[in-house]
Amino acid sequence: MGAERRQSVGADEFGEFVEGLDYPLFVVTVEHDDERSGCLVGFTTQVSIDPPQMLVCISEKNHTRRLVEHADLVAVHVLPPGHQELDELFGEETGDATDKFARCSWHAGPGGVPLLDGAARHMVGRILTRVPFADHLGLLLEPVETHVGDSPVAYTLSDAEDMEPGHPA
Ligand SMILES: Cc1cc2nc3c(=O)[nH]c(=O)nc-3n(C[C@H](O)[C@H](O)[C@H](O)COP(=O)(O)O)c2cc1C
Repeated sequence: MGAERRQSVGADEFGEFVEGLDYPLFVVTVEHDDERSGCLVGFTTQVSIDPPQMLVCISEKNHTRRLVEHADLVAVHVLPPGHQELDELFGEETGDATDKFARCSWHAGPGGVPLLDGAARHMVGRILTRVPFADHLGLLLEPVETHVGDSPVAYTLSDAEDMEPGHPA
């Protein structure tokens, strides 16, 4: 009875399936106990319209992962196109070795969450649930503040093709 159980494909094979697909990139920031962290994130999606909710996935290896364990809020930033310094800082450096917030302009938002001055848009989200996926932690977010500036937004994976993540996934 039922479908025959098939063996799952490996990461390389699945990698070919997602190869070349484009999707938006965001910078997620967080503060806990006067420590700040943040990283470039592509594994995100809106998961509900009303009430609005968004899922953001943070690699288990990242410095950012340790802070989101304890925080109530995170900020999700959309970068304007061509903002290479911020995407490289947050995507190629790790908070394990670098104080990223000493190297960019930001100010404290609700609950102290760092808001990046160079972002085109940001959303501050309350963490409703943490969902452990295999090698990422999913954060289900409820927006508590949104800001939309005038800059165009088109920052996607294809803009970051040559980047080397600060932490291998
Ligand atoms: C194109 C691209 C997409 C990425 N997507 C994610 C992601 O969805 N989730 C994640 O946790 N890290 C992602 N990363 C990796 C982190 O941004 C990167 O390892 C960062 O240096 C980690 O910083 P941290 O250790 O200070 O948290 C991505 C990196 C790049 C270049």
